[in-house]
Amino acid sequence: MLRTHTCGELRASHIGTGAVLCGWVNRRRDHGGLIFIDLRDRYGTTQIVVAPGGDAFLAAEAARPEWVLKIEGKVRRRLEGAERAENPTGEIEVEVASLVVLSESKTPPFEIDQDIGINEELRLEFRYLDIRRERMKRNVMLRHRLLQAVRKFFYDRDFIEVETPILIKGTPEGAREYLVPSRLHGGRFYVLPQSPQQLKQLCMIAGLDRYMQIARCFRDEDQRGDRQPEFTQVDIEMSFVHAEDVMKLTEEALIALTVGLRRDIKIHSVPFPRMTYDEAMNAYGSDKPDLRYGLTFTDMTDMARGCGFGVFAKAAEAGGVVKCLRVPGGAALSRKEIDDLTGHAKIHGAKGLAWIKKNGRKFDGVPVEKLGGDATAKMANAAGTEDGDLLFFAADEFYTACVSLGAVRTEIARRRSLAPSDVFAYCWITDFPMFEKDKDTGEISAVHHPFTRPNVASMEMVDRDPLKAKAEAYDVALNGFEIAGGSLRIHEHDLQKKIFEILRIDDAEAERRFGHMLRAFRYGAPPHGGIAWGFDRLAMIFCGEPNIREVIAFPKDQKARDLMLGAPSSVPEKQLRELGISIVEE
Ligand code: AMO
Repeated sequence: MLRTHTCGELRASHIGTGAVLCGWVNRRRDHGGLIFIDLRDRYGTTQIVVAPGGDAFLAAEAARPEWVLKIEGKVRRRLEGAERAENPTGEIEVEVASLVVLSESKTPPFEIDQDIGINEELRLEFRYLDIRRERMKRNVMLRHRLLQAVRKFFYDRDFIEVETPILIKGTPEGAREYLVPSRLHGGRFYVLPQSPQQLKQLCMIAGLDRYMQIARCFRDEDQRGDRQPEFTQVDIEMSFVHAEDVMKLTEEALIALTVGLRRDIKIHSVPFPRMTYDEAMNAYGSDKPDLRYGLTFTDMTDMARGCGFGVFAKAAEAGGVVKCLRVPGGAALSRKEIDDLTGHAKIHGAKGLAWIKKNGRKFDGVPVEKLGGDATAKMANAAGTEDGDLLFFAADEFYTACVSLGAVRTEIARRRSLAPSDVFAYCWITDFPMFEKDKDTGEISAVHHPFTRPNVASMEMVDRDPLKAKAEAYDVALNGFEIAGGSLRIHEHDLQKKIFEILRIDDAEAERRFGHMLRAFRYGAPPHGGIAWGFDRLAMIFCGEPNIREVIAFPKDQKARDLMLGAPSSVPEKQLRELGISIVEE
C-alpha cells in the first residue's frame, strides 16, 4: 500500500504517531507562512500542514486543487479553536515531513468541493470528477449499500441469483427494442432484453423455484426523469405461489430496506395500503398515486347527468365521467394560475377544465350560471367545499378525465410543498386491466405483458369482453413513482394461446416470436409469478434525488447519449461491411 491510513481515518487516538496519506487537494490555504491543505479521498478529508523551508513546502506551494499527493508526517492535535466538530478527523492535523506529487491536475471544469448548481451536461461529460463531489459520492455509496441489502434479503430467503443473457430474442414489454446485428448470421439480430421476463419464467420451468437477479434492462423509449434507456431491476420470480406471497415478501423487503438504510424516514402506512387500479384512478387520477397528501377526487358523474351544463351532461351521458378536485383556499388563485394549472391537464388530453370558486355564500366560475344554483350547491356540498375553496372539474372519457385532473393534483401539491420529504408512502395497486385498446389504431395490447394471468374473477371475461378483464397484476407506488410491477403468470399452453389470439398474434406469429415459451409450457410448467423493482427509482427516492440520473454512476443524458464516452458514435466502414449494414442518409 502507498499509504498507512485513509483521509477519513485519523483521530485523537493517533496523536503522536506517524502516518502516510494519499489523496486529492480539496482546498489549499496559505496562513502566516504555513500551508494548510485539506487532503481528500473516498473516506474523508484530513488537514495537513506544511511548514516553510525544504522541498515539501515548495511542492505544497505549487499544488493546486485536484492534484494527487502523497504525504508523510506526524499526527498532532489542532490548535485550540481550530478543531472542526463536523469533520470526524477535525481534532487532528498531520504535520508534513515529506510531500510527493503523484499526479497534477488541470483546473477542473467545475468546483469539486461545493454543491452549487453546475450545468448537468458538464457534470455528465466529466462524470469522474462529478463523482468526486460529496453528494454524488454519497449517492453512489447509498446505492451500493441498498444493492447489498437487497441481495442479502433475498439470499437469506433461498433465492438463487441467475445471470440471464443480454443478447437475446425480443421480450415484449411495450417499448422499442435495441437491436444488435449478428456478424456470423448476416441480416439477423439479437435484441437487448427489456427485462429478463421470459428467461425468469423459463427458470421456473427449469425448477429453480426462487429466482432473483439484479438485472440490466434496455428500452429504447423517450427519456424522462425516471427513465433511462439502460436501467436496473431487482428481478424476482417464484414458483407455487399466490399473488399474496409475492406481495408479502416484497413488502417485507421494502420495509426492511427502509428501516435499515433510512432510519430518519417514516413509512406512511404499514401494511402498505392497497387499492385497485380503478380505485386509484377514481380517487387520485393516477395508477401511482402519491399518498403523502390528500386532494382526492369526488365523482360528479351521476349529478352531471341531465344537468344544465352541456359539457358535464354530455360527458356523463356518453359513458364518460365528471371528476372534481377541491383545492382548499383555491379561490385565491388568479386567472393566470388557473390557466397554468389547466395547461397541465391539457398535456394529458383534457380539452379544458371547468372551475367554481366559493367566496362567502357566493359561487363564481365557468359553469355556475348554466348549472344553476341548486346543482352548483349540490356538487359543492358533495365535494365538502368550504368558503375560499376552488373546485376543478374534468369532464371526459374515464382515463382522460382522471389522468388530466391527476396532473393538476400533482402540480398543486408541488406548488404548495404538500409532500413531506421525510415520509415514504408505499402502496399497492392491483387489478389492472389485462388489455388496452389504442385510440387511434384500434389495436389491442397487453397492459402489463402477454404472460400475465387474468385474475380468477375475470377468466370468463377474457372470452366475453377482454377489455373488461382484469389481470392478476400488482404494482408498488412510492411517493408518486411506480417502483415495482409484477404479476402471476400464465403457465398453461392453451390459456397462453388464447391470450395471443386476443392480441391478434396468430399461430405462425406466436410460433415465430414465442415458440420457445409455448414449447416450454408443454413440459410441466409450475404455477408461478414474480415482480420487478425499478432499482434506480428506488435508489433515487432513498437518496432524496429528483431524477434517476443522480443515482446512476454513468447515466445517459435526456437524449440517450453518453456525453463522457461520446456514445452513440459512428463506426468504421469496415465494421459495418462485416455486418452487412449500410447507412442510408436521410
Ligand atoms: P415493468 O415494465 O413494469 O415490468 O418494469 C418494472 C419496473 O422497472 C422500472 N422501469 C424503469 N426504470 C427506469 N427506466 C426505465 N426506462 C424503466 N422502465 C421500467 C419501473 C417498473 O415498475 N418483466 C416485468 C416485471 C414482472 O412482471 O415481473 C417488467 O419489466 O419501476
